[in-house]
Amino acid sequence: MERLIIRGGRRLEGTVQICGAKNAALPQIAAALLSAEPLTLTNLPDVVDVRTMLTLMAHHGVVAETRGATVTLDASKATNAEAPYDIVRRMRATLLVLGPLVARFGRARVSLPGGCAIGARPVDFHLKALTALGAAIEIEGGYINAQAPDGLTGARIVLPSPSVGATETALMTATLARGESEIVNAALDPEVADLAACLAAMGAQIEGAGTHRILIQGGKSLGAARHDILPDRVEAGTYAVAAAITGGRLELTGARLEHLSAVGEALEAAGVQLWPTDRGLMVARDGALKGIDIVTEPYPGFPTDLQAQFMALMTIASGAAMIRETVFESRFMHVPELKRLGANISLQGTSALVRGVAKLRGAQVMATDLRASVSLVLAALAAEGETVVNRVYHLDRGYEALDRKLVRCGADISRVAD
Ligand code: EPZ
Repeated sequence: MERLIIRGGRRLEGTVQICGAKNAALPQIAAALLSAEPLTLTNLPDVVDVRTMLTLMAHHGVVAETRGATVTLDASKATNAEAPYDIVRRMRATLLVLGPLVARFGRARVSLPGGCAIGARPVDFHLKALTALGAAIEIEGGYINAQAPDGLTGARIVLPSPSVGATETALMTATLARGESEIVNAALDPEVADLAACLAAMGAQIEGAGTHRILIQGGKSLGAARHDILPDRVEAGTYAVAAAITGGRLELTGARLEHLSAVGEALEAAGVQLWPTDRGLMVARDGALKGIDIVTEPYPGFPTDLQAQFMALMTIASGAAMIRETVFESRFMHVPELKRLGANISLQGTSALVRGVAKLRGAQVMATDLRASVSLVLAALAAEGETVVNRVYHLDRGYEALDRKLVRCGADISRVAD
């Protein structure tokens, strides 16, 4: 395993190129299963989760041709409708192949993904959507068996809460269900709208993506398409915090402020300056940091995927910050590790009260999940002395070349193998 050795206290200054969004790339790779014609995706991030999804696609018989950040997926000879446990357990988003497999082949056998460090991660909303479209579902031996031998029929799908993944499952599957489908209480995330744009390029008829009500006229087979994946707002928000926590100044090329409005408001209230440039977004902080309260919510609220990073920033702000996590039930794995760096945080149920300290001090810390691990890197950038972040494979799941990008902006980081 590898670890990062970070010597903190240096201002970051420079430019960071923001990659394509991991959470947009994953469903769009799965969407290739819907068609016998090739799907070309550009601006693909080079992260482990994308490679895992491509491994699963190869298992299904999809031929992928990758050239840099471009991949062409040919599912014309895909036949294997099973997603095995040993691949699914590596990344729960592999569940997103379930809907496309049933829609295209009339059957699927996909391992239940199981929970992860941030919560139980049930899949009941996904199964509710598939059942509404006419699939017969049964759980047996840790696998989801879905059958639709006579195809699927359009339906009204009401999601109990605006689940991102369940919206994506419903959206992809409905494109091949005969007739009209309506998704009610759909997630509003930009990654959902980007998936809809990709499906529309393949020939799907979709209206309302990005709103709580999406209409799909399904049943026609989908064709070849090319789609450019939207920039990663979580990566951009992460580097915005890197500029803020070191009192530096970074230009985030490719970032879109309109996808980060709740984060931008919180950062500005904390004393950070952000403004759009013709290449993306500038973030700078040269005054004092102020503790402010945040609550994570479904988009366009403050994203749960940036909660840990914002908490790292609040550990050195003046005053206190109350951070409430409402999306996942246990997304505070970073708290004990931040406390090892000298942070003053007390947990009260789904809330964390952060009292700012003058200085963090370097220590050995352990990464546990993707966003928790990057919050430790951010805190280490501001800490006095040396911090060792262990198990950085969590980082590589969702961030392309994070340490290299930070070093190019003045950070003192080295990656060493254990
Ligand atoms: C997506 O996960 C993202 N992953 C997550 O990013 C992100 O944190 C999450 O959306 C919320 O924004 C991908 O897009 C690959 P949800 P997803 O379904 O789809 C409950 C990262 O770090 N729920 O919106 O799994 C669920 O337990 C990852 O990049 C059900 O109860 O999130 C949670 O409490 C982490 N039943 C809430 O809904 C279901 O069937 C939101 O989950 C599905 C979800």
